[in-house]
Amino acid sequence: MTQDELKKKVAEAALHYVKGLSVLGVGTGSTVNHLIDLLADFKSQIDGAVSSSEGTTMKLKKVGIPVLDLNDTGTLEVYIDGADEVNAHFQMIKGGGGALTREKIIGAASRKFVCIADASKYVDVLGKFPLPVEVLPMARSYVAREMVKLGGQPVWREGFLSDNGGQILDVHNLTILNPVEMEKQINSIPGVITVGIFAIRPADVVLLGSEEGIRTLQ
Ligand code: A5P
Repeated sequence: MTQDELKKKVAEAALHYVKGLSVLGVGTGSTVNHLIDLLADFKSQIDGAVSSSEGTTMKLKKVGIPVLDLNDTGTLEVYIDGADEVNAHFQMIKGGGGALTREKIIGAASRKFVCIADASKYVDVLGKFPLPVEVLPMARSYVAREMVKLGGQPVWREGFLSDNGGQILDVHNLTILNPVEMEKQINSIPGVITVGIFAIRPADVVLLGSEEGIRTLQ
């Protein structure tokens, strides 16, 4: 099976968490895009979805799912999203697609965070995937210097602007042994909008797609 086929399988498995819901949160990325295609069959059941990016919003609308404002929905029962890395504590690196800030907000505002990924995303220690850090443009060089002090090698994702007008530094060569502490530390640097470590609020359920089938960690 290709990686994309595994992503589709795990998206199918996530439908289990959609059953009976009228509103849900929807993440961003190629795995979630498969889920959105499948959500078309739930149109009669779903009143709408809270979207984590402009890309997801466009896709949801295309399949006929209304997009709702998080300010109107209140706490969401379920948020489903992919990850760039996930560890045994369900802590993640996210933001490969640049949607980390809205993803973190919706994750925090949801009762259940369901992470869907192909099994290659499962790691012992977070940090091999370059850590995305969204920054205010004027703070980019300053935050980059702070990342060097932490032992990382920041690379500006040039030409990319997030849906919030932020720029992204992809920080290479970090070994994130204490994700909660590092999330707090990087988030406290002036100019940082969001760091792509999702550890203070990890996932509640992780679905991993592999050749052997779907592994559910919870
Ligand atoms: C988007 O900013 C990311 O957090 C995605 O959730 C993550 O990159 C996973 O993407 P794929 O599903 O495309 O692997």
